[in-house]
Amino acid sequence: MAELTLKTDTTKTDTTKTDTTKTDTTSSLPTSNGGKLAGKKVFVKTFGCQMNVYDSERMAEALAAEGAGGGYTETSDMADADLIVLNTCHIREKAVEKVYSDLGRIRQIKEERETQGKSTIVTVAGCVAQAEGAEISRRAPVVDIVVGPQSYQRLPGLISKVQRDGRRVVETQFPDEDKFATLPARSMNKGGRAAAAFLTVQEGCDKFCTFCVVPYTRGMEFSRPVARVVAEARALVAGGVREITLLGQNVNGYHGDGVDGRPRSLADLLGDLSAIDGLERLRYTTSHPRDMGDDLIAAHRDLPKLMPYLHLPVQAGSDRILAGMNRKHTVQDYRSLIHRIRAARPDIALSTDIIVGFPGETDAEFQATLDLVVEIGFVMAYSFKYSPRPGTPAASMADIIPEAVKSERLGRLQAALDGVAQKFNVGFVGQTVPVLFERNAKASGMLLGRSPHLQLVQAPATDDLLGRILPVEIDHAGPNTLHGTVRAA
Ligand code: 5AD
Ligand code: SF4
Repeated sequence: MAELTLKTDTTKTDTTKTDTTKTDTTSSLPTSNGGKLAGKKVFVKTFGCQMNVYDSERMAEALAAEGAGGGYTETSDMADADLIVLNTCHIREKAVEKVYSDLGRIRQIKEERETQGKSTIVTVAGCVAQAEGAEISRRAPVVDIVVGPQSYQRLPGLISKVQRDGRRVVETQFPDEDKFATLPARSMNKGGRAAAAFLTVQEGCDKFCTFCVVPYTRGMEFSRPVARVVAEARALVAGGVREITLLGQNVNGYHGDGVDGRPRSLADLLGDLSAIDGLERLRYTTSHPRDMGDDLIAAHRDLPKLMPYLHLPVQAGSDRILAGMNRKHTVQDYRSLIHRIRAARPDIALSTDIIVGFPGETDAEFQATLDLVVEIGFVMAYSFKYSPRPGTPAASMADIIPEAVKSERLGRLQAALDGVAQKFNVGFVGQTVPVLFERNAKASGMLLGRSPHLQLVQAPATDDLLGRILPVEIDHAGPNTLHGTVRAA
């Protein structure tokens, strides 16, 4: 999965495109008790990818449900929380270190609350929980519950257990039950939701890129049945959602059961979702080049609701490095694929993930990555310094690239990417684009929304336009944001 960098935004084009890890979003669901002050509070902090953002929302919903271990409303103040949940990311070392530094701060908060007679339950969820298990509470004894990404539906039960027994619990099984079927249904609260939502349709990955922990932390590929996805999408739309981004570590490998029990592709699923009235926009992320089937390419031509934007990680521009990464595609495979996608949807914008400093990467091989960025014209990319992950094949490869070389390469790559992005955005000045307004901007009287190409667009507008798609004439293009004026629809 691609990841996020800004503290306040959970969407992609705001990223500073650096190697820092990653979103620290505090989840912001509407409070289920209408803002009453009494009652138990939960603070949820999300690290990492959009799939974690989605999981955090579902966790918060499960914790809001009344019953043993439930009844929590959300707070954005950690010191006010009876339950603290860190939903963690293990993809690079920095992400893991941030979790431990947060746990240091949480220990102080817990001790301070104890002096006031208040207890605090501390939970580490997500991929660090899965990968490190009981090691977490050994390193950070403040942690009461360790729960992996396949078991968080059990969180209310685990909380009751901790309260009852006063002992730590670690739950990192890959249980047989379908967690999505066990979780409470999405609420249809009108107006309670933002206009754009994530919906996880697939989890896990069997690709085993040599640098990546995902096949170990998230397990083998699993696709949710079509009917469940459609039902969830309908509930989201009934709650005011206009745009849905389908999520999966390898989303275009989707093969969920149709109503007849036979597997359906992502293209089939997008077709079914397109039929939902009131749902205006569809996106999906993240894809593997090997799983870009003909029907999915055709969907980009045939489905007007499918937005002209595709995130397709390439990782490197040299065949030798791609082979070392076990990417299962060559540079030429990727090029021809892009050619076919652009033939189906000429205005499609492409984004990608790139790793610099993979073991053995020469200057010439890095240069090939730079050349490919310009050749393909990626309008956005998440770029990372290679970070060895324990247990992955690449971690024991020779020819480690020094940190200084990785940093220098990352800087050059990001400069090249910025150049392409700037050119792309400037090309929109003077054009009118449909924008889905999603939230208030920092500047008062301004709203922020997204164009079909996922550009962040800011325009003077009043709150009644939130959740609506309106034409905006672009006046100028900043490095990360387009600025414009709403024209009458
Ligand atoms: N080091 C650096 N980047 C990594 N990614 C995955 N594993 C590593 C690693 N060990 C990047 C890949 C992937 C994205 C989600 O994170 O580019 O596509
Ligand atoms: Fe990791 Fe590769 Fe799977 Fe992506 S395709 S999740 S990088 S193993």
